[in-house]
Amino acid sequence: MSTNPTPQSTNPVYPIIWQEDTVLLIDQTQLPEKYTTVAITNSQEMAQAIKTMVVRGAPAIGVAAAYGMYLGAREIQTTDRDSFLNQLEEIAQQLRQTRPTAVNLFWAIARMLETARETSGSVEQLQVSLLATAQAIQAEDLETCQTIGDRGLAVLPSHPQQLSVLTHCNTGALATVGYGTALGVIRSAWREGRLNRVYADETRPRLQGAKLTSWECVQEGIPVTVITDNMAAHCMKQGLIDAVVVGADRITANGDTANKIGTYSLAIAAAAHKIPFFVAAPLSTIDFKLATGCEIPIEERHPSEIYQVGATRLCPEGVEFYNPAFDVTPAELITAIITEKGAVAPGELVDLSNK
Ligand code: MRU
Repeated sequence: MSTNPTPQSTNPVYPIIWQEDTVLLIDQTQLPEKYTTVAITNSQEMAQAIKTMVVRGAPAIGVAAAYGMYLGAREIQTTDRDSFLNQLEEIAQQLRQTRPTAVNLFWAIARMLETARETSGSVEQLQVSLLATAQAIQAEDLETCQTIGDRGLAVLPSHPQQLSVLTHCNTGALATVGYGTALGVIRSAWREGRLNRVYADETRPRLQGAKLTSWECVQEGIPVTVITDNMAAHCMKQGLIDAVVVGADRITANGDTANKIGTYSLAIAAAAHKIPFFVAAPLSTIDFKLATGCEIPIEERHPSEIYQVGATRLCPEGVEFYNPAFDVTPAELITAIITEKGAVAPGELVDLSNK
């Protein structure tokens, strides 16, 4: 991994760039203090970048894993097809072990393996197809998110004319490949003159809202107010919030939705205040193999994310910690799920997949 200097312009924001045979990632652990990119040259470096959240957000993790598969594939030293496929499966396994909740990771890896199996010809031809598939996944994500953003406009409340929208975590350009899901809907609303402002939950413990969503809004000139997570219900009660729009890491067949920890309590608060609660996500985030949210594996991260802020330790020694990175919002608390095919009630997802 090597670090590159800050480019001249950071707008538009592209967190993953394929350039001169390497993958450049914006180092999201450094924002907003520092804008740096990291050059990733092999699958181990990519696995590490996903694990340490240099790259993060479900769709971005999927694209990064796809490139990780290609970077690994190009290092395989064999001309034998079966041996190549076996070694590729080992690379897939290494990448699968990085983060368990976002299904886009597994979806992208499966698509890369399928490409390899279905491409005929030499190992070199397989490698070429793998790069093409990774690039296709990336290009599709940008288009998909733009469509999600625009589809979201149809379901946002029409009153008041300019909405104040609360969001959680970061679901923008950084979390995808350049537009965003929930933040994509918000960007589209801003473009159409339908947004008053964004309320961004700071999103403890990693502060993706305070650090990344606010940074993206500043890049775009979108008015943003950062609040701490425990202020959301109060803001709703004050009448400051017209709608909540969040992203997703995995949606099960019944519409239950895993997203960044704190999403569930937001949904409960929104229901209590009769505020519509939307989930925006690409179809690749829906895991039809799982019936309900109880089956979603929830990542637990290191306790230092809770007890430490920068170099300062907040809690005394001898305390125990519990640090789940995601929670599951039950389908009944979700007004609609916005995908690239349009918005549907959570219970209608199965129908949507068959269209
Ligand atoms: O732990 P993170 O930062 O990868 O979690 C990100 C989220 O929970 C996002 O809301 C989700 O991945 C959707 S991103 C478009």
